[in-house]
Amino acid sequence: MKILVTGGLGFIGSHTVVELVNAGYEPVIVDDLSNSDPKILDQLAKIIGYKPVFHKLDLCDEAGVKALAVAEPDVQGIIHFAAFKAVGESVAKPLKYYRNNFYSLINLLEAYYSKPLNFVFSSSCTVYGQPAVLPVTEEAPVQPAQSPYGNTKQIAEEILKDMIESGTSSYKVVALRYFNPVGAHETALIGELPIGVPQNLVPFITQTAIGKREKITVFGNDYNTPDGSCVRDYIHVVDLAKAHVAALKLAEREDYTGYDVFNIGTGEGSTVLGVIKAFENATGVKVNYQIGARRAGDVEKVWGDVTKSTNKLGWKTELGLEAMMSSAWEWEKYIAQNPL
Ligand code: WQD
Repeated sequence: MKILVTGGLGFIGSHTVVELVNAGYEPVIVDDLSNSDPKILDQLAKIIGYKPVFHKLDLCDEAGVKALAVAEPDVQGIIHFAAFKAVGESVAKPLKYYRNNFYSLINLLEAYYSKPLNFVFSSSCTVYGQPAVLPVTEEAPVQPAQSPYGNTKQIAEEILKDMIESGTSSYKVVALRYFNPVGAHETALIGELPIGVPQNLVPFITQTAIGKREKITVFGNDYNTPDGSCVRDYIHVVDLAKAHVAALKLAEREDYTGYDVFNIGTGEGSTVLGVIKAFENATGVKVNYQIGARRAGDVEKVWGDVTKSTNKLGWKTELGLEAMMSSAWEWEKYIAQNPL
């Protein structure tokens, strides 16, 4: 069964390609290489045993997406990762984010509109803002977005819901609200490839540990949390990748129709300082850190209630914080030795 994976050379996309193959699917990758490296195709080949089909395409190119639908008519599912995702950049360049994340979604949906397709969408726990009740469930109110990036996720969910409610499309849609994906594949052949200075916690930790950065700043230690640093629900990218397979399986069921949304996390929170400690315990490598000011826009604490995804997707995480840290570290060392 062919599955189109947009953004399939990115961090989460590439891990999902591997899990699709493990589950017997045939991934077809679409990526514009704007935030990914074509050599990831060779890395994927080392893991799955063959080079997957790849279309280099910017999904904002409407004619190009129509041509893709003609070239790949027999796909039975789409997993749509391709999007810009840097929160800070989205504040500085909102139109770039709105153009890219909406045009690509709409072009893709329109190109395959008449086909009965399963569509899995990458959403984010960012839609919850700072939840009043933790762990946060899917029923919690969506809060006004803190950034154009967050807004694109919220509005994309609305677009998909409106499309289903119109009754005019043949899609079945599953939206997955990711918490904080970290870690890398156990082979250390694929992982996160941040461009420039990492904005996210774990790549900053691994780059500091390997000596690429002098130290990491912990953004605030005066929050109302066990050690004063922010709490997030970190999830191993391989567990997250498997959630996409589970989402496809759900959508394939005859009794599944329409649209639904699921939290994809571990259900447990960890503090920033706790993550640094877990890294040190898992790897034996000390991380040079300092406490700094709070980062604008950060929520204090968020972790997900995963009851719904456990029950309805039949999925749950298998890998803990130590596995996340050791795999991220193995990848950092691999990429230092074998630059792409
Ligand atoms: C995690 C924690 C920081 C860097 C963002 C997006 C979200 C999602 C994932 C992605 C926070 C702290 C970080 C550093 C630090 N979407 N930190 N020092 O902000 O939870 O979520 O990425 O595509 O939508 O908002 O993730 O990794 O940036 O931060 O102390 O150098 O680590 O303050 O508490 P975040 P993050």
